[in-house]
Amino acid sequence: MCGIVGYVGGKEAYPIIIKGLKRLEYRGYDSAGVSIGNTKGIALLKQKGKVSDLEAYTEGREKSGSIGIGHTRWATHGVPNQVNAHPHLSGDGKLSLIHNGIIENYDSIKKALQSKGHIFNSDTDTEVLIHLIENIKNHEQVNLFESVRIALSEVIGAYAIVVMEEGVNNEFIAARKGSPLVIGVGRDEYYIASDASPIIEYTNEVVYLEDGEIARVNCEEVLEIKTITNKIITPYIQELKLSLDTIEKGGFSHFMLKEIYEQPKSILDTMRGRIDTESKEIKLGGISDYEQKIINADRIIIVACGTSWHAGLIGEYLLEDLARIPVEVEYASEFRYRNPIIRETDVVLAISQSGETADTLAALALAKQKGATVLGICNVVGSSIPRLTDGGIYTHAGPEIGVASTKAFTTQVVVLTLMSLRIAKQKGTLSNTNYHQLITQLELIPEKVERVLQTNDQIEKIAKQFKDVSNFLYLGRGYNFPVALEGALKLKEISYIHAEGYPAAEMKHGPIALIDADMPIVVIATKKGNYEKILSNIQEVKSRGGRLIAIVTEGDKTVKELADYCIEIPNCFEELTPLLSNIPLQLLSYHIALMRGCNVDQPRNLAKSVTVE
Ligand code: F6R
Repeated sequence: MCGIVGYVGGKEAYPIIIKGLKRLEYRGYDSAGVSIGNTKGIALLKQKGKVSDLEAYTEGREKSGSIGIGHTRWATHGVPNQVNAHPHLSGDGKLSLIHNGIIENYDSIKKALQSKGHIFNSDTDTEVLIHLIENIKNHEQVNLFESVRIALSEVIGAYAIVVMEEGVNNEFIAARKGSPLVIGVGRDEYYIASDASPIIEYTNEVVYLEDGEIARVNCEEVLEIKTITNKIITPYIQELKLSLDTIEKGGFSHFMLKEIYEQPKSILDTMRGRIDTESKEIKLGGISDYEQKIINADRIIIVACGTSWHAGLIGEYLLEDLARIPVEVEYASEFRYRNPIIRETDVVLAISQSGETADTLAALALAKQKGATVLGICNVVGSSIPRLTDGGIYTHAGPEIGVASTKAFTTQVVVLTLMSLRIAKQKGTLSNTNYHQLITQLELIPEKVERVLQTNDQIEKIAKQFKDVSNFLYLGRGYNFPVALEGALKLKEISYIHAEGYPAAEMKHGPIALIDADMPIVVIATKKGNYEKILSNIQEVKSRGGRLIAIVTEGDKTVKELADYCIEIPNCFEELTPLLSNIPLQLLSYHIALMRGCNVDQPRNLAKSVTVE
């Protein structure tokens, strides 16, 4: 939530910052702004709307300078408008601050500052923070680095901030707690951003700031880092393993479509090096030290949010089915606040694309504090969750920029499949034959996903028939129940059509009352598991006049006679079906949203990385 970019060095800062903000726009896009420092002072330019609106606004205005900070906002405190947009200035206009996160005790700080004569222009917690820094700087007579450090020791909440000072054109101060910040190290120049995507084309040497760290970033000096408690830290420079083409659209009209089409490759990347070609043994180095813990665990608790929670549900089916370990899947936001019972024999597994989701991170921290073994399945390398966990497995899906999660979901499911198979094998709950058959089938999935993607034109035609409806119901059973939930989430978040996912058999217990000719039903009716039962559910829908779109196994004739539209997916083992059945639902949401004129990559009110609770 909220994207931060900064530059200090010998180049013009503005174009670097605007380009960086566009790369980070997935994190928030309701307003944007920049502060550029030059010999005349700080040019502050901000605008409601997208980065392109900011660009239009800055046209013809003074914005030259070789130091600058920029921000793209996802509003928490105060409506999205020009006044509430970042950067915010101190009372005397000499300090400028960008912030990602929430200052929880801003109200009491604000009142104390108001009693000292501070006047605030915006409704934001961020403006309070920059006034606090100013107040400390003026009263304690300390430099900006120290003022920021003292201010942050008074602050409760989460933040990634960058502060610059009028007349100081070689340096800014940055700090983080709970929200990510990465510093790009160039030659006589530094970059800073919420993630590495704005930095990669300039340098591949980066320093990830840790929680509670504060940095003085001066282009004429080496990076200076200390903790908020004033302990000096030696910066650890890492090499970035990100390539530019992975964060660009590569000929696709949207990141979401590109990422849907990348799935055969990202699934391969997830499996790469993890299945021995000869013996078919699965190697998961990141959790090998904890394998016995998992095998002997009383239970595995999966914590996640949104799409990652849906992947977690599939993980529950897989781990219980194959490895016979009891699994509970929890919304991280509920888990962290409901005083859960966590034992040292529990394994708590967090699933998160971004690795930064505030609730998932907090749920994990709670589990760790209670002595459980904490593991993670994440996509973003070096993000906060992998740094908190005892061990974990990266999905290696590559950057996911579309706000609606697609390839992250499929690769999370692949990791959960690998993990379940590995544990099942080690525990002896799966026969050798079944193990080998499943692995062989898993290896065929990328090619089968390619085949599913060929249904795109057909799905586009189906989308045309349904683009104007107001409600959708998604039904699935067994492994396809979480797929129904995920399909409904995808549709509602990008097309703003109300959609619900249900276990098909639950339809009779309520939702059936909604069914009429205006309520389309998507049913996942692949030829495994509960096929016969789902046929009855289809009959129930049909007899009430519902229009049906069915996801079926290639060659199915029975459902074809009943459903209005059928999308075929290749035959595969039941345990692996979600990896295929989910793809047409992603495409259906994409086309419907596009036909309704929605912004597919940046749906309203959403942000990619939910770093506030
Ligand atoms: C939906 C979506 C969200 C995320 C959720 C968790 O398409 O993207 O529901 O899945 O915000 O995010 P991560 O996985 O980054 O923890």
